[in-house]
Amino acid sequence: MPTIKLVNITKKFGKGSLAVDKLNMEIKNGEFVSLLGPSGCGKTTTLRMIAGLETPTEGEIYFDDECVFSDEKGINLSPDKRNVGFLFQNYALWPHMTVYKNISFGLENMKWPKDKIDARVKEICKTMRIEEYMNRYPAELSGGQQQRVAIARTLAPNPKVLLMDEPLSNLDAKLRNDMRAELKRLHKTTDSTFVYVTHDQSEAMTLSTKVALIKLGILQQYCPPLELYGDPANIFCADFMGNPSMNFVNVKGVKDGDSLLLNNDHFNVRFTPNDPIELKDGDYVLGIRPEFVKITEEGIESRVISSLPSGMETTLSLGVGDVTLSAVAFGSVDFAMDSVEHFNFEGNKYVLFDKESEKNLSLGSLEIVE
Ligand SMILES: Nc1ncnc2c1ncn2[C@@H]1O[C@H](COP(=O)(O)OP(=O)(O)OP(=O)(O)O)[C@@H](O)[C@H]1O
Ligand SMILES: [Mg+2]
Repeated sequence: MPTIKLVNITKKFGKGSLAVDKLNMEIKNGEFVSLLGPSGCGKTTTLRMIAGLETPTEGEIYFDDECVFSDEKGINLSPDKRNVGFLFQNYALWPHMTVYKNISFGLENMKWPKDKIDARVKEICKTMRIEEYMNRYPAELSGGQQQRVAIARTLAPNPKVLLMDEPLSNLDAKLRNDMRAELKRLHKTTDSTFVYVTHDQSEAMTLSTKVALIKLGILQQYCPPLELYGDPANIFCADFMGNPSMNFVNVKGVKDGDSLLLNNDHFNVRFTPNDPIELKDGDYVLGIRPEFVKITEEGIESRVISSLPSGMETTLSLGVGDVTLSAVAFGSVDFAMDSVEHFNFEGNKYVLFDKESEKNLSLGSLEIVE
């Protein structure tokens, strides 16, 4: 299984803006990488360039040491020479062919010997848990079963790389969850490199070994999902990951020794960076994950604007002056609307953003200052 390397990959459609802008990333052998970002950010275009279905305007693509695309060297390997499997959002099974035939057909076209085809189809059907449906037609299968057939068909020729473009988006919520688990298991058992396009942050979080978060064709951050969640590079990344999303509070900062006193008319807090950084007075944005707003006996006074219990946890909206904070209280708890609750901060995963550049300056701890 190869390592895929994109070097300064750029795609311009006509005279329009850049769909993908100087993308540099390395997808290591055996990884499950998600390309994540809002609609139109360039995910599909990137995937299609890796597959060879779209020609980059500039840059180079390598599969291990082999250059499969280079505008300067004039190299552009066709999709069939790249040995990648491609699974689209609107996978179409051939309706007049059985499951078995849907999977074997491609292998026949590749001139595989008959006995090898038979063994492979049976093997992949077992992996995808569709053995019992091999003789059925697509119309006789549920959506999830059809999806599994489509994946089996893509995997049958043993592609080194499996590229998937929102393959679960047509399924209902329950099936989508089952298929996510299936894909994760599949990634382990097939030992292939997966590149997966989604605009669903929770899908990217739960499935991937690494997430590439893209905004307007520009890569914002490329790292393991929990790192993206806990230590986002900028406000866009912080806001994109997590539901309910991170709270952003505009504050003024005044340097006080190794910490900053942050104030926003309604509360004063001391921010102490986890690792020493150069501090200065100025405007900042404080990023607070809802799970780090703790309802306590004492602390900052707030009014309960809404309380949404789900059974396992309750999402709260708390008003402090004109600032609204979302909070998560774990367990089966409920709070009366308009009641007064106090909250406090604990831990050291609060994020200090520069107000102007919106960049993450530091993670740190918060302490209420009277
Ligand atoms: N064939 C094309 N001709 C012109 N512009 C295109 C073409 N394909 C894509 N684009 C533009 O390139 C940008 C990136 O498109 P792309 O399909 O890669 O986005 P995406 O991230 O996959 O979005 P979505 O989540 O909606 O599928 C968009 O602005 C889109 O309009
Ligand atoms: Mg797309």
